Amino acid sequence: MRVIEAPRELQTVRRRLLGYVGAVYTMGALHAGHLSLVKQAREENDAVIVSIFLNPTQFNNSDDLARYPRTLERDLELLEAADVDIVFTPTAEAMYPPHFQTTVQVEDVSDGLEGAARPHHFRGVATVVAKLFNLTQPVHAYFGQKDAQQVVVIRRMVRDLDFPVDVIVCPTVREADGLALSSRNVHLSDAERAAAPALYRALQRAAQVYEAGEREPAVLRAAARSVLVREPLLSIDYIALNDPANLHGIHTAVETPLLLSIAALAGKTRLIDNCLLPWVLNTQEGLTSLLGCV
Ligand code: PAJ
Repeated sequence: MRVIEAPRELQTVRRRLLGYVGAVYTMGALHAGHLSLVKQAREENDAVIVSIFLNPTQFNNSDDLARYPRTLERDLELLEAADVDIVFTPTAEAMYPPHFQTTVQVEDVSDGLEGAARPHHFRGVATVVAKLFNLTQPVHAYFGQKDAQQVVVIRRMVRDLDFPVDVIVCPTVREADGLALSSRNVHLSDAERAAAPALYRALQRAAQVYEAGEREPAVLRAAARSVLVREPLLSIDYIALNDPANLHGIHTAVETPLLLSIAALAGKTRLIDNCLLPWVLNTQEGLTSLLGCV
Protein backbone atom coordinates (compact mmCIF):
# COMPACT_ATOMS: atom_id res chain seq x y z
CA MET A 1 0.00 0.00 0.00
CA ARG A 2 1.32 3.39 -0.98
CA VAL A 3 0.60 6.48 1.12
CA ILE A 4 0.72 9.70 -0.87
CA GLU A 5 0.45 13.19 0.58
CA ALA A 6 1.15 15.44 -2.40
CA PRO A 7 -1.76 16.01 -4.86
CA ARG A 8 0.64 16.24 -7.83
CA GLU A 9 2.25 12.92 -6.96
CA LEU A 10 -1.17 11.28 -6.65
CA GLN A 11 -2.09 12.49 -10.13
CA THR A 12 1.15 11.08 -11.57
CA VAL A 13 0.64 7.70 -9.89
CA ARG A 14 -3.05 7.60 -10.89
CA ARG A 15 -2.15 8.07 -14.54
CA ARG A 16 -0.14 4.85 -14.42
CA LEU A 17 -2.96 2.71 -12.96
CA LEU A 18 -4.59 0.31 -15.39
CA GLY A 19 -8.17 -0.99 -15.42
CA TYR A 20 -11.05 0.04 -13.16
CA VAL A 21 -10.18 2.37 -10.29
CA GLY A 22 -12.53 2.51 -7.31
CA ALA A 23 -12.40 5.36 -4.80
CA VAL A 24 -13.63 5.85 -1.24
CA TYR A 25 -13.37 9.31 0.35
CA THR A 26 -13.22 9.68 4.13
CA MET A 27 -12.35 12.10 6.90
CA GLY A 28 -10.53 9.35 8.83
CA ALA A 29 -11.37 7.86 12.25
CA LEU A 30 -12.31 4.81 10.22
CA HIS A 31 -14.94 2.31 11.36
CA ALA A 32 -16.76 -0.66 9.88
CA GLY A 33 -19.03 1.67 7.86
CA HIS A 34 -16.04 3.12 5.98
CA LEU A 35 -14.55 -0.35 5.61
CA SER A 36 -17.74 -1.71 4.02
CA LEU A 37 -17.25 0.87 1.24
CA VAL A 38 -13.60 -0.16 0.87
CA LYS A 39 -14.55 -3.84 0.70
CA GLN A 40 -17.12 -3.17 -2.01
CA ALA A 41 -14.58 -1.10 -3.94
CA ARG A 42 -12.01 -3.89 -3.61
CA GLU A 43 -14.45 -6.43 -5.05
CA GLU A 44 -15.44 -4.34 -8.06
CA ASN A 45 -12.16 -2.73 -9.20
CA ASP A 46 -8.59 -3.43 -10.23
CA ALA A 47 -7.17 -0.71 -8.00
CA VAL A 48 -8.57 1.01 -4.91
CA ILE A 49 -7.75 4.55 -3.75
CA VAL A 50 -8.90 5.78 -0.33
CA SER A 51 -8.56 9.39 0.79
CA ILE A 52 -8.27 10.53 4.39
CA PHE A 53 -8.80 14.26 4.59
CA LEU A 54 -10.49 16.11 7.43
CA ASN A 55 -11.98 18.75 5.18
CA PRO A 56 -12.19 22.04 7.12
CA THR A 57 -14.53 23.78 4.66
CA GLN A 58 -17.47 21.48 5.37
CA PHE A 59 -17.48 22.20 9.11
CA ASN A 60 -19.57 25.18 10.12
CA ASN A 61 -18.57 24.92 13.76
CA SER A 62 -14.90 25.17 14.71
CA ASP A 63 -15.56 23.21 17.90
CA ASP A 64 -16.89 20.25 15.87
CA LEU A 65 -13.72 20.31 13.73
CA ALA A 66 -11.43 20.58 16.76
CA ARG A 67 -13.20 17.68 18.51
CA TYR A 68 -13.29 15.42 15.44
CA PRO A 69 -11.35 12.21 16.24
CA ARG A 70 -8.00 11.71 14.49
CA THR A 71 -6.59 8.16 14.35
CA LEU A 72 -4.33 8.16 11.28
CA GLU A 73 -1.98 5.35 12.31
CA ARG A 74 -4.79 2.93 13.04
CA ASP A 75 -6.64 4.05 9.87
CA LEU A 76 -3.60 3.13 7.77
CA GLU A 77 -3.37 -0.30 9.44
CA LEU A 78 -7.04 -0.96 8.68
CA LEU A 79 -6.63 0.10 5.05
CA GLU A 80 -3.52 -2.01 4.62
CA ALA A 81 -5.44 -5.01 5.98
CA ALA A 82 -8.27 -4.22 3.54
CA ASP A 83 -5.82 -4.51 0.63
CA VAL A 84 -6.06 -0.89 -0.48
CA ASP A 85 -3.55 0.17 -3.16
CA ILE A 86 -3.22 3.89 -2.50
CA VAL A 87 -4.11 6.09 0.47
CA PHE A 88 -4.21 9.81 -0.21
CA THR A 89 -3.59 11.95 2.88
CA PRO A 90 -3.25 15.56 1.72
CA THR A 91 -2.74 18.53 4.02
CA ALA A 92 -5.29 21.34 4.17
CA GLU A 93 -2.60 23.70 2.80
CA ALA A 94 -2.12 21.52 -0.28
CA MET A 95 -5.87 21.19 -0.91
CA TYR A 96 -6.56 24.88 -0.31
CA PRO A 97 -3.46 26.83 -1.30
CA PRO A 98 -3.33 30.61 -0.84
CA HIS A 99 -5.75 32.49 -3.11
CA PHE A 100 -8.02 29.45 -3.50
CA GLN A 101 -11.33 30.86 -4.71
CA THR A 102 -13.32 28.30 -6.69
CA THR A 103 -16.22 26.43 -5.10
CA VAL A 104 -19.00 24.13 -6.27
CA GLN A 105 -22.48 25.07 -5.10
CA VAL A 106 -25.17 22.51 -5.86
CA GLU A 107 -28.44 24.44 -5.56
CA ASP A 108 -31.74 23.19 -4.18
CA VAL A 109 -30.81 19.68 -2.97
CA SER A 110 -28.19 21.26 -0.65
CA ASP A 111 -30.72 23.50 1.07
CA GLY A 112 -33.01 21.33 3.22
CA LEU A 113 -32.39 18.72 5.93
CA GLU A 114 -28.69 18.81 6.93
CA GLY A 115 -28.13 21.87 4.72
CA ALA A 116 -30.66 23.86 6.73
CA ALA A 117 -28.93 22.96 9.99
CA ARG A 118 -25.41 23.38 8.62
CA PRO A 119 -25.13 26.40 6.29
CA HIS A 120 -22.42 26.02 3.58
CA HIS A 121 -21.80 22.39 4.60
CA PHE A 122 -22.67 20.94 1.20
CA ARG A 123 -20.69 23.62 -0.65
CA GLY A 124 -17.67 22.35 1.28
CA VAL A 125 -18.56 18.74 0.50
CA ALA A 126 -19.25 19.29 -3.22
CA THR A 127 -16.06 21.31 -3.67
CA VAL A 128 -13.79 18.80 -1.96
CA VAL A 129 -15.42 15.82 -3.71
CA ALA A 130 -15.01 17.57 -7.09
CA LYS A 131 -11.32 18.01 -6.28
CA LEU A 132 -11.02 14.38 -5.14
CA PHE A 133 -12.74 13.18 -8.34
CA ASN A 134 -10.20 15.12 -10.39
CA LEU A 135 -7.26 13.92 -8.32
CA THR A 136 -8.23 10.23 -8.20
CA GLN A 137 -10.28 9.91 -11.42
CA PRO A 138 -12.23 6.84 -10.32
CA VAL A 139 -14.51 4.78 -12.55
CA HIS A 140 -16.54 3.90 -9.43
CA ALA A 141 -16.89 6.05 -6.31
CA TYR A 142 -18.48 4.58 -3.18
CA PHE A 143 -20.60 6.57 -0.73
CA GLY A 144 -22.61 5.57 2.34
CA GLN A 145 -26.39 5.68 2.74
CA LYS A 146 -25.78 7.14 6.22
CA ASP A 147 -25.25 10.51 4.49
CA ALA A 148 -28.12 10.19 2.00
CA GLN A 149 -28.37 13.91 1.23
CA GLN A 150 -24.63 13.94 0.48
CA VAL A 151 -25.25 11.22 -2.12
CA VAL A 152 -28.03 13.26 -3.74
CA VAL A 153 -25.85 16.40 -3.80
CA ILE A 154 -22.89 14.55 -5.32
CA ARG A 155 -25.02 12.76 -7.89
CA ARG A 156 -26.51 16.11 -8.95
CA MET A 157 -22.99 17.55 -9.28
CA VAL A 158 -21.79 14.51 -11.28
CA ARG A 159 -24.63 14.94 -13.74
CA ASP A 160 -24.47 18.73 -13.95
CA LEU A 161 -20.69 18.92 -14.41
CA ASP A 162 -20.28 15.65 -16.40
CA PHE A 163 -17.85 13.89 -14.09
CA PRO A 164 -17.12 10.49 -15.70
CA VAL A 165 -17.83 8.66 -12.43
CA ASP A 166 -20.38 6.04 -11.39
CA VAL A 167 -21.61 6.71 -7.85
CA ILE A 168 -22.37 3.55 -5.87
CA VAL A 169 -24.31 3.73 -2.61
CA CYS A 170 -23.64 1.24 0.21
CA PRO A 171 -26.13 0.52 3.01
CA THR A 172 -25.64 1.97 6.49
CA VAL A 173 -23.55 -0.22 8.79
CA ARG A 174 -24.89 -0.36 12.37
CA GLU A 175 -23.95 -1.41 15.86
CA ALA A 176 -25.74 -4.51 17.19
CA ASP A 177 -28.40 -2.28 18.79
CA GLY A 178 -29.05 -0.42 15.53
CA LEU A 179 -27.05 2.78 16.07
CA ALA A 180 -25.52 3.86 12.76
CA LEU A 181 -21.72 3.83 12.99
CA SER A 182 -20.27 7.34 12.97
CA SER A 183 -16.88 8.79 13.83
CA ARG A 184 -18.70 11.20 16.14
CA ASN A 185 -20.27 8.45 18.28
CA VAL A 186 -17.17 8.51 20.52
CA HIS A 187 -18.41 11.85 21.84
CA LEU A 188 -21.57 10.28 23.33
CA SER A 189 -21.74 9.88 27.10
CA ASP A 190 -22.88 6.47 28.36
CA ALA A 191 -26.42 7.73 28.87
CA GLU A 192 -26.50 9.39 25.41
CA ARG A 193 -25.11 6.23 23.85
CA ALA A 194 -27.93 4.26 25.46
CA ALA A 195 -30.52 6.70 24.05
CA ALA A 196 -29.05 6.93 20.53
CA PRO A 197 -30.43 3.65 19.04
CA ALA A 198 -33.90 5.21 19.29
CA LEU A 199 -33.25 6.78 15.87
CA TYR A 200 -33.04 3.33 14.31
CA ARG A 201 -36.05 2.06 16.25
CA ALA A 202 -37.99 5.12 15.06
CA LEU A 203 -37.15 4.29 11.43
CA GLN A 204 -38.21 0.69 12.02
CA ARG A 205 -41.50 1.76 13.62
CA ALA A 206 -42.35 3.98 10.65
CA ALA A 207 -41.40 1.15 8.29
CA GLN A 208 -43.77 -1.24 10.13
CA VAL A 209 -46.60 1.24 9.82
CA TYR A 210 -45.72 1.64 6.12
CA GLU A 211 -45.74 -2.15 5.59
CA ALA A 212 -49.19 -2.25 7.22
CA GLY A 213 -50.40 -0.05 4.35
CA GLU A 214 -50.20 3.46 5.82
CA ARG A 215 -49.12 6.10 3.27
CA GLU A 216 -50.14 9.36 4.94
CA PRO A 217 -46.85 11.29 5.53
CA ALA A 218 -48.04 12.88 8.78
CA VAL A 219 -48.96 9.46 10.20
CA LEU A 220 -45.62 7.89 9.16
CA ARG A 221 -43.67 10.76 10.73
CA ALA A 222 -45.77 10.58 13.89
CA ALA A 223 -44.94 6.88 14.18
CA ALA A 224 -41.22 7.71 14.17
CA ARG A 225 -41.73 10.62 16.55
CA SER A 226 -43.58 8.46 19.08
CA VAL A 227 -40.40 6.38 19.53
CA LEU A 228 -38.01 9.34 19.75
CA VAL A 229 -39.99 11.35 22.31
CA ARG A 230 -39.57 8.54 24.82
CA GLU A 231 -35.84 9.41 25.06
CA PRO A 232 -35.47 12.60 27.11
CA LEU A 233 -31.78 12.88 26.19
CA LEU A 234 -32.62 13.25 22.50
CA SER A 235 -33.92 16.49 21.08
CA ILE A 236 -35.44 16.08 17.64
CA ASP A 237 -34.25 18.43 14.87
CA TYR A 238 -36.35 16.95 12.06
CA ILE A 239 -38.26 13.88 10.94
CA ALA A 240 -38.69 14.29 7.19
CA LEU A 241 -40.17 12.42 4.26
CA ASN A 242 -38.67 13.25 0.88
CA ASP A 243 -38.54 12.00 -2.68
CA PRO A 244 -35.22 10.08 -2.77
CA ALA A 245 -34.54 11.30 -6.33
CA ASN A 246 -34.54 15.06 -5.63
CA LEU A 247 -35.29 15.47 -1.90
CA HIS A 248 -38.56 17.28 -2.58
CA GLY A 249 -40.76 17.16 0.54
CA ILE A 250 -43.60 14.63 0.45
CA HIS A 251 -46.78 15.96 2.05
CA THR A 252 -49.50 13.80 0.52
CA ALA A 253 -49.94 10.03 0.31
CA VAL A 254 -47.96 8.52 -2.61
CA GLU A 255 -47.07 4.99 -3.71
CA THR A 256 -43.56 5.92 -4.91
CA PRO A 257 -40.54 5.08 -2.66
CA LEU A 258 -39.81 7.52 0.16
CA LEU A 259 -36.70 8.65 2.01
CA LEU A 260 -37.35 8.96 5.74
CA SER A 261 -34.65 11.03 7.49
CA ILE A 262 -34.16 11.80 11.15
CA ALA A 263 -31.79 14.22 12.87
CA ALA A 264 -31.56 14.63 16.64
CA LEU A 265 -29.14 16.06 19.15
CA ALA A 266 -27.79 14.03 22.05
CA GLY A 267 -26.16 16.75 24.11
CA LYS A 268 -23.78 18.45 21.66
CA THR A 269 -23.59 15.46 19.33
CA ARG A 270 -25.68 15.53 16.17
CA LEU A 271 -27.11 12.12 15.20
CA ILE A 272 -28.57 11.39 11.77
CA ASP A 273 -30.14 8.30 10.25
CA ASN A 274 -32.42 7.43 7.36
CA CYS A 275 -34.09 4.64 5.45
CA LEU A 276 -35.93 4.10 2.23
CA LEU A 277 -39.54 2.98 2.41
CA PRO A 278 -40.43 0.29 1.62
CA TRP A 279 -37.70 -1.23 3.80
CA VAL A 280 -36.63 -3.85 1.20
CA LEU A 281 -35.07 -1.03 -0.86
CA ASN A 282 -32.26 -0.49 1.68
CA THR A 283 -29.72 -2.53 -0.28
CA GLN A 284 -26.82 -1.44 -2.46
CA GLU A 285 -28.99 -2.04 -5.54
CA GLY A 286 -32.06 -0.24 -4.17
CA LEU A 287 -30.11 2.73 -2.85
CA THR A 288 -27.90 3.08 -5.92
CA SER A 289 -30.91 3.07 -8.23
CA LEU A 290 -33.03 5.51 -6.20
CA LEU A 291 -30.95 8.06 -4.23
CA GLY A 292 -30.34 11.10 -6.42
CA CYS A 293 -31.52 9.32 -9.58
CA VAL A 294 -33.83 11.70 -11.38
P1 PAJ B 1 -16.97 10.52 6.45
O1 PAJ B 1 -17.99 10.99 7.41
O2 PAJ B 1 -15.63 10.08 6.95
O3 PAJ B 1 -17.60 9.33 5.63
C1 PAJ B 1 -16.91 8.76 4.55
C2 PAJ B 1 -17.87 7.84 3.81
O4 PAJ B 1 -18.28 6.77 4.68
C3 PAJ B 1 -19.15 8.58 3.36
O5 PAJ B 1 -19.52 8.13 2.07
C4 PAJ B 1 -20.14 8.14 4.42
O6 PAJ B 1 -21.49 8.18 3.97
C5 PAJ B 1 -19.70 6.71 4.68
N1 PAJ B 1 -20.19 6.24 5.98
C6 PAJ B 1 -20.08 6.86 7.19
N2 PAJ B 1 -20.68 6.15 8.15
C7 PAJ B 1 -21.20 5.04 7.55
C8 PAJ B 1 -21.97 3.91 8.01
N3 PAJ B 1 -22.31 3.77 9.28
N4 PAJ B 1 -22.32 2.98 7.10
C9 PAJ B 1 -21.98 3.12 5.79
N5 PAJ B 1 -21.27 4.16 5.30
C10 PAJ B 1 -20.89 5.10 6.17
O7 PAJ B 1 -18.74 11.76 4.36
C11 PAJ B 1 -17.63 12.24 4.54
O8 PAJ B 1 -16.67 11.66 5.35
C12 PAJ B 1 -17.16 13.52 3.87
O9 PAJ B 1 -18.26 14.37 3.67
C13 PAJ B 1 -16.43 13.28 2.52
C14 PAJ B 1 -17.34 12.62 1.49
C15 PAJ B 1 -15.17 12.45 2.74
C16 PAJ B 1 -15.99 14.66 1.93
O10 PAJ B 1 -15.17 15.32 2.80
